[in-house]
Amino acid sequence: MGLAAIVSALTTKAPAGAMLALALTVVAAVMFTVGWRLAVAHRYTAHRRVQIAAVVLSTAVIAAWMVRSFVLYVAPQIPARLSQRAYAVATVHAVVGVIALVLGIYVVLTALKLLPPRLRFTHFKPFMRSSYALYLLGTLTGVLLYAVAYAGLG
Ligand code: HEM
Repeated sequence: MGLAAIVSALTTKAPAGAMLALALTVVAAVMFTVGWRLAVAHRYTAHRRVQIAAVVLSTAVIAAWMVRSFVLYVAPQIPARLSQRAYAVATVHAVVGVIALVLGIYVVLTALKLLPPRLRFTHFKPFMRSSYALYLLGTLTGVLLYAVAYAGLG
């Protein structure tokens, strides 16, 4: 497949919801990266606001679009079609995504002191670093899934 055909498949075969989900997830990934740089620059209030907004944005996209797609189209085919590339990528993506999401929400709830003190962690760095890495991995596997599902790539 030539580049023009790939670009055309990626932009015409995908439903509008998938394109919007992709765009918003990329915005969230950029926000997470800006937020990380703010922490490096010791601008902690701005860091906190940006990261919380990014977690809220990605949680909304996942809840509004991805969970539905997963429940309707992927889950009923597991394990029967796990050997097919699209279903395998979707399953790996969902597992990475769930872990990233739970960890991200846990970090936000701890930062906002919304959890009882015994459930909060005190060492922020390892939790923040691993949730950032997992969010990026979730984004990469999501982009791969988009390419596999709508342009037959991968
Ligand atoms: C950190 C968390 C996550 C990130 C960054 C992320 C990112 C993405 C991206 C960029 C796409 C491509 C756009 C699209 O096709 O809609 C995608 C698609 C998808 N994701 Fe996620 N995702 C995350 C969590 C999850 C979770 C928890 C699930 C499962 C419950 C999930 C299931 C799916 C499915 C089924 C699709 C294909 C949707 C479709 O095209 O109909 N994702 N994801």
